[in-house]
Formats: sequence, C-alpha cells, structure tokens
Amino acid sequence: MEKLPTHIAFIMDGNRRWAKRRGLNKMLGHKKGAEVLANIIKELSRISKIKYASFFAFSTENWNREQKEIDAIFQLVEDMFDKYEQEFSRLDIKFVIMGDISRFPKSMQEKLIKVQENSKNNSGLTVLLALNYGGRDDIVQAVNKLANSGLTEITEEDIKKNLLSFPAPDVDFLIRTSGEERISNFMLFHLAYSELYFPKYCWPAFNKKRLYKALKIYSKRNRRFGGN
Ligand code: FPP
Repeated sequence: MEKLPTHIAFIMDGNRRWAKRRGLNKMLGHKKGAEVLANIIKELSRISKIKYASFFAFSTENWNREQKEIDAIFQLVEDMFDKYEQEFSRLDIKFVIMGDISRFPKSMQEKLIKVQENSKNNSGLTVLLALNYGGRDDIVQAVNKLANSGLTEITEEDIKKNLLSFPAPDVDFLIRTSGEERISNFMLFHLAYSELYFPKYCWPAFNKKRLYKALKIYSKRNRRFGGN
C-alpha cells in the first residue's frame, strides 16, 4: 500500500453490544476490547509509515456509567500495561496520555505516569491514549494557556502547539466501529480533514485482517483538503 496514514485514530465503540449479542456479561466485551487494543497497538507498531495512533478509551461522558463498569474499565487499563508494558517497550512504542487523569484511582494514575515516563525516549509508534478526554475541552484549555501568554493574535499553529496531542499532526484516518457515525467530541481540532470509516462490526471483533482492509480503503481515498 502506497498511501498510509501518518496518524490513525480509533473510537473503540460497541464493546457492550458485542457481549450482549453473544449472551455474555458486558464486562467481557470490555475485556475482549482491551485485548484487541493491545493487539492492534502491536500490529500498528510494525507498520513504519504509521507514526501516531490515537485511541478513545474513556470519554468525559463515560463517568455516567455504573461504578462497577467504570472500575472494570480502569482495571483493564492497568492490566494491559502490567501484561504488555515490556513488550510495548521492546517494540519501541511511546505512550502519551491525553486527558485529566486526576479523577482516576491512585494506582492507575501512578501506572499511567510511569508508562509515559518509561517510554518517553522510545522512537517508534506514538500511542495517544485518550482517558477522561474531551475534544472541546482540549481546545479550550489550549486557548486558555494562550490567553494567559500575552499574545495579541492567536494562530492555528499556536492552538495546535498547545493541544494535548502535540507534536502529533492532524488525524489522517479515523475508524469508529459498531456502525455509529459520529465523532462524539473526540479530537475535534485534528479531525478537520480526516478520512472517516464506520465499519458495522463492534470493537471486540476488530482484528489484523480488518485493520489491513481499513488501510486498503484509506489508500484508495482521494484526499483533496478542500482543493481540486
Ligand atoms: C465503547 O463500547 C467502549 C468504551 C466506552 C470503553 C473502551 C474500553 C476498552 C476498549 C477496554 C479497556 C480500555 C483500555 C484502554 C485497556 P461501549 O461500552 O460504549 O459499548 P456499546 O456502545 O455497545 O454500549
């Protein structure tokens, strides 16, 4: 494939529906979803043209779920790093957490900070994990930083430089699983000219084969960025 995205992003939707359709507890949907996430991160790290991968793991709206489910998701985040941190590191993957982690359990916060610190000099794939993240909030906090900096005119470049994802470039390709066709307050600033793909299957059913099919679809898209 000649054309590959430099920055790919995922809204990992449909964990509960996947479980429900199989008569399974919804937590098993999240568990399988976490396994798929780890496998996809590993696979993406082997595709050298892809430099950044963003994943929406927990939105600011997800706090409305029942505490048991929230706790289970948090545990899965910790478990993923306990199980795979060394392997991720061998693959030269760098992790950046986007979002306000201060509301998360202490042990999870510590783990996330440690994972970022341990991987900060890695030079392969950068994984941006959005946790308690909101796209509008990302822009608002960037603008607030700039408002306090004394600048009289604020440019797009200034805003970009103050987003949580900096220095990641715009998202080239967004995949949202489960058939929902929405952005849901994900990386609004970066998605301005992204190619969008909304496959019907749920996130736990995503796999290597489907990743390559999606990349093939992207490679055939004709990106014009508003021009001819
Ligand atoms: C969307 O499915 C998924 C989430 C809100 C959480 C994403 C969590 C994971 C992929 C697993 C754990 C995360 C990490 C980072 C290891 P949904 O629950 O909204 O499902 P539904 O749309 O079918 O209700």
